[in-house]
Amino acid sequence: MINVSESEVPIITVDGPSGTGKGTICSYLTDWLQWNFLDSGALYRVLALAAKNRGINNDDEVALATLAENLNVEFRIAGAGSLVNVVLDDKVVTDDIRTEEAGNAASLVAPIIAVREALLSRQKAFHKAPGLVADGRDMGTVVFPQATLKIYLTASAEERAKRRLKQLMDKGISANLRDLSADIAERDERDSTRAASPLKPAEDAVIVDTSSLGIDAVVEKISDLVKKRIPEIK
Ligand code: C5P
Repeated sequence: MINVSESEVPIITVDGPSGTGKGTICSYLTDWLQWNFLDSGALYRVLALAAKNRGINNDDEVALATLAENLNVEFRIAGAGSLVNVVLDDKVVTDDIRTEEAGNAASLVAPIIAVREALLSRQKAFHKAPGLVADGRDMGTVVFPQATLKIYLTASAEERAKRRLKQLMDKGISANLRDLSADIAERDERDSTRAASPLKPAEDAVIVDTSSLGIDAVVEKISDLVKKRIPEIK
């Protein structure tokens, strides 16, 4: 067996605001490359849920950091490729953390520096052979600055709200475009203006605007970038 040192294990980071297609692209990359997958947003969502379950307020930084340090969360493989079940305190919470409310709650605990520090080593632990695909806001800037390829996905706020509306309607959840647009704008503002690890492209990131691209075109573009950057991948 060839021993590859940890620093040689490739990493692809996919950052950007919500609704740009990060999740779809990351599951495509994970399935194609058969690499490990870090859904860092799920960690912040689970933390917010655990805090709610324990009655901890969003401004109780000490209690939130302690909770983040001791968070009993597990990502269990649930099927082929990137399918995982998120388990908090032995209870499957995969669907509970996917709501708009859970996303907003996550963005309220995410600005706390001590929380981000407490979750850092947990995220770094996903960096294992044969490679890692990491989805989030600060994957390329803070958590994995050494990444092999950094992708930053963007799309207009209007297009992102439309996509989110379609996703919710496909799941039979009712929502309206105006409220969704307002929620997305509010979350973007919070994520981009916070002092700790704000949402922004890494200096060496490749920016891909998905506003007017279908998912197949985005997949093709990103597959080309991966093959160019990592020649062993055909
Ligand atoms: O990506 P997702 O929508 O699951 O993220 C939920 C929230 O968690 C984001 O709006 C952001 O506030 C926070 N987050 C973060 N850093 C990450 C991933 C997510 O601050 N790396």
